[in-house]
Amino acid sequence: MSDARGANPLRDPADRRLPRIAGPSGLVIFGVTGDLSRKKLMPAVYDLANRGLLPPGFSLIGFARREWEHEDFAQEVYEAVKQHSRTPFREEVWQQLVQGCRFVQGTFDDDEAFETLKETINELDKAQGTGGNFAFYLSVPPKFFPKVVQQLKKHGLADQKEGSWRRAVIEKPFGHNLQSAQELNRIVHEVFPTNEVFRIDHYLGKETVQNILALRFANTMFEPLWNRSYVDHVQITMAEDIGIGGRAGYYDGIGAARDVIQNHLLQLLALTAMEEPSSFGADALVAEKTKVLGAVKIPKDLGKETVRGQYAAGWQGGEKAVGYLEEDGIDPKSKTDTYAAIKLQIDNRRWAGVPFYLRTGKRLGRRVTEIAVVFQRAPHSPFDHTATEELGQNALVIRVQPDEGVTVRFGSKVPGTSMEVRDVSMDFAYGESFTESSPEAYERLILDVLLGDANLFPRLEEVEQSWRILDPIEVYWEKHGKPAQYPAGTWGPTEADEMLARDGRSWRRP
Ligand code: BG6
Repeated sequence: MSDARGANPLRDPADRRLPRIAGPSGLVIFGVTGDLSRKKLMPAVYDLANRGLLPPGFSLIGFARREWEHEDFAQEVYEAVKQHSRTPFREEVWQQLVQGCRFVQGTFDDDEAFETLKETINELDKAQGTGGNFAFYLSVPPKFFPKVVQQLKKHGLADQKEGSWRRAVIEKPFGHNLQSAQELNRIVHEVFPTNEVFRIDHYLGKETVQNILALRFANTMFEPLWNRSYVDHVQITMAEDIGIGGRAGYYDGIGAARDVIQNHLLQLLALTAMEEPSSFGADALVAEKTKVLGAVKIPKDLGKETVRGQYAAGWQGGEKAVGYLEEDGIDPKSKTDTYAAIKLQIDNRRWAGVPFYLRTGKRLGRRVTEIAVVFQRAPHSPFDHTATEELGQNALVIRVQPDEGVTVRFGSKVPGTSMEVRDVSMDFAYGESFTESSPEAYERLILDVLLGDANLFPRLEEVEQSWRILDPIEVYWEKHGKPAQYPAGTWGPTEADEMLARDGRSWRRP
């Protein structure tokens, strides 16, 4: 492995900032045979190693039920890396990483397995120099969180010893509602101190999401318009073309609103709507995000201001897609939402009267996540009506993914001898403006966990506010019939279009 201070060929030589490199440490992944671990976590660990951001003795322990030897696990990591990592494969990096790969076989009830885990950690401390610093990543269904942290406590794995750390990394959703989130929090904090708990919302690890704050607060030209005097409404869309894949066990009963609105979309709303924080430190960020989430009003007419849907069979990308109820492992009577749209208002001076429309869904027209800030029409036009017939509203669109960047839409004169104004757009695209490559969200977040940097992790206060907003909606849905059906490959149920039409607006077709 190359020198950590710049000899690594993957490190951008123009990067003059101090490199953030993790100190001696290791990561234990619970649920290591799952999708998330294979597609994101293991490749992220390799990519970090490849970029020279992990210490030479970094260790990775997998914990799962599978009857694997260390070598089988190493082979699994190798395949995940080959298939999903973002940086080129380099044999020397792999050879170093594999030195620290271990597997512990067991269930979460199995005391012996946790004892083996303890011995494995001790062995790695000696052999790899991990210094007792371990993060425990709970990539397991939420119902197992309490059991795993209790086992860590029982076996002394969570003890914070002088000069070393033990951290818990918990995947979303944190709880199932407000009450269960608070209960889970109580259990976790009986075991880990507040500053050693990292709740993952991988959207916060995305470059484009972090850029919301740069766009708003490092510039002059946007913020003066960022309020009720100029903004007509905001649309936050997270659309996916995929169905639930092999995740029936996790998804059924959770649904789109709990899976992504409670976390990703409300975080996007918070970053878009919050006031300027006094610094980019975790405390200041959390304070502002919590404040704005606390100002979100619960919709009064839940029947008119929320819509939930479920995909039916349809055509997507030229292929027939089965409906949600026909997916493997789904209860054929399931009322789980695979689409959710919610209209929210923020009760403060900046945003009073400006609706924030949030929507998400699986099996929609295409994969796209964006935040569109749509501005009011000009208060007066000197052009005659026909000149501006084709002019839409000005908009600033933060393209979170794919095709990451920012678009500004405004009117321009159509070339010719008459005055006609039509929409045009001005684009910033990451690929064209920067030569630096973006780390994958999980790379950034795992590195931050190892460094103990909490800026990009939601705290309990934010999680609680998000459940406060979502709980009444879920309760209402539970009591009121079934989700509206929409054919796979379309943009969701017609009820969602009607929700905006009642306000004289329509969804963007990104
Ligand atoms: C996860 C959800 O948090 O985000 C998934 O549980 C969803 O259902 C995924 O598919 C989408 O992530 P991304 O980064 O591809 O937008």
